[in-house]
Formats: sequence, structure tokens, C-alpha cells
Amino acid sequence: MPDFDSQPALGDLDRTTDLAALELWRVTHLGRKSELMTALSGLGQVAAEERREAGQRLNAAKRELEGAYEARRSELSQQTLAGQMESERIDVTLPGRPLQRGYSHPTIAVIQEICGLFRDIGFQIIEGPEVEWEHYNFTMLNIPPEHPARDLTDTFWITDKMLLRTHTSPNQIRAMERVGQPPIRVLVPGRCYRNEATDASHESTFFQIEGLMVDDRTTMADMKGVLSYMARGLFGQQARTRFRCDYFPFVEPGAEMSVSCGQCNGTGCRMCKYTGWLEILGCGMVHPDVLRGVDIDPAKYSGWAFGLGVERIAILKYGVDDIRLFQQNDPRFLRQVG
Ligand code: DAH
Repeated sequence: MPDFDSQPALGDLDRTTDLAALELWRVTHLGRKSELMTALSGLGQVAAEERREAGQRLNAAKRELEGAYEARRSELSQQTLAGQMESERIDVTLPGRPLQRGYSHPTIAVIQEICGLFRDIGFQIIEGPEVEWEHYNFTMLNIPPEHPARDLTDTFWITDKMLLRTHTSPNQIRAMERVGQPPIRVLVPGRCYRNEATDASHESTFFQIEGLMVDDRTTMADMKGVLSYMARGLFGQQARTRFRCDYFPFVEPGAEMSVSCGQCNGTGCRMCKYTGWLEILGCGMVHPDVLRGVDIDPAKYSGWAFGLGVERIAILKYGVDDIRLFQQNDPRFLRQVG
């Protein structure tokens, strides 16, 4: 008569520690090929007079194992759930992860600062195309065909008439053409390009800001006043300005403006090459031929203009030593100066 001892199976059951081990136990002890199931399906061969009792004992053992199995299963499931809840527990009292705050690129920060200063005194901020006609970039600005700026090695030409603008000055012409007659007060920030071998102070892509005022009585005194106002706004009230003669084909007279060196306060240091001054822009009275070119009568109106390199200002403001950093966009640099 087949017999079955449930004790070893129950001992194994106590040692299962997770649901996978429990499933293995079930297959071993209650599965089709288990000892118990084999005995049950062999009942047919048992002599008829013993069959009833044997069946009862085996079925009792089966119920016992099944009951113990179910109990263990719910125990382990609860343990698993508790463990999962523990590992997924959230401490709502912990401080949140700080959000990274955005910041402006230093070039853009300087452009916005200068635009703000000029907006405050009634200048309109406009933009012009980066791909420009040589007509606007050179011809209308009194820059003759034999001028070295037109050379293939200095300018990125798209066709023989179209190029990447080498300065923002073509927008003087565009502004005067668009507005028609004075008064005109515009500021034009934008990207410019020169076919340049790059080094710490030369970059083939850079930003300029152009300024232009045309009116019936505006003079060089207005220009000096406005540009000195800008210098004080940018570098602080103690900043002084100096104007010296310079040559640009589209202005007469032309000048360059320097500001007193903020590093040494004018006494001389490495930054200002021991001169006490930092050159920051070109400017001048708009050439009568340039006015005539856009049908503005130089006998009735006068104008002044300036152009500055934005990165140069950022370099001075933030003490940066390599202009190429502004284009490389390394966040470690941007975060420091932005
Ligand atoms: N366009 C000149 C340059 O890129 C800068 C400049 C000089 C602009 C004198 C002006 C100006 O408007 O009056 O070097």
C-alpha cells in the first residue's frame, strides 16, 4: 500500500524564503511528477480492499500540503510587498532637488545691456540680414572696389555680389532707406563674419552693435555725449572717455573712442597695455556722400554713427582672455561669466 510522509515536504516549505523558491517547492512536492501525485495516480494498481484507505491518507496529505502551501504563499507575498514598499518609500520631508536656473550667454547679456541703455534714450532696436549684398556692405558705405576689406582673404563671399556681412554698418544704409527722411535713431546688434585666422583676439564670427542718429541739428557733441553715457552705463559712473581721430570711409571726421581702464583706473596696467585707456569703438559724422546715396540732403541734415565689437566689451567687463571662448559655448565658461 503506497504511503506518504508529509513531514520532509513541510520542513522544506519552512525554508522557502521567496516566491521563486516557493514555486520550486510546489513543482517538487505537488507537481505532476511529485512523489505524492505519482502515488495518487498509482492508486488504480492498489488492491481494492486497501485502495479506499490509501486514497484517504494520500488525499489528506495532499490537502495538508496544499493548505500549508497557500499559507506560505500569502506569508511570502506579504513579506515581498512590505519589502517593496520599504524600498520604494519616499521621505516627503527631504528637500527637493535644486532646479538649474538659466542664464544669458555673456555676449547676449552685453547686447541686452547696451540695447537697454539706448532704448532709454529713444533709439529703436532693429536687425538686418547676415547674408548681405556687397552694395550695402561696401559700395553704399563709400568703401571703393580696390579697398583691402573686399579681398577674398578678408571676406566670405557667397557669390560675386553677395557675402557674409563683415560689419553691422550696412544697416545704416538699410535704416535710412527704410525710414526715408530723418529723424532716425537706430541701434543694430548682430553677428558678423570675417575670413580670419583665429587667435586669442581674432574670431571669424563675432557680434557688433551699430548705432546711427540722423537729424537736422545733431552734432559730434551729441555723439560724444551719447557714447560717454553708454560708457558710464556699461563700466560705471567713474568711466571717462577719450576720442581720437581715426579713418573709416563712411564717416568724416572719423574717430575711435576709448574708455579709462577700469582695472587700474587710468594709471596703467597690463590690461590697457600701460596706456590707461581701452579702445572700444569706431565712430564719426556720417559722410555727406553716404547721406546723398540714400537721398538725404547733407546741407539740411547731419548724422553720426558708431560701431562696437560686443565680445571686446564682454572681455573687458568680465576679464576674459580669449575671444574664442564666446563661440565655443563650454558651459563651464558660460556659467562663470554669465
Ligand atoms: N564698421 C566699422 C568696423 O567694423 C566700425 C565703425 C566705425 C562703425 C565707424 C561706424 C563708424 O558706424 O562710424 O570696423
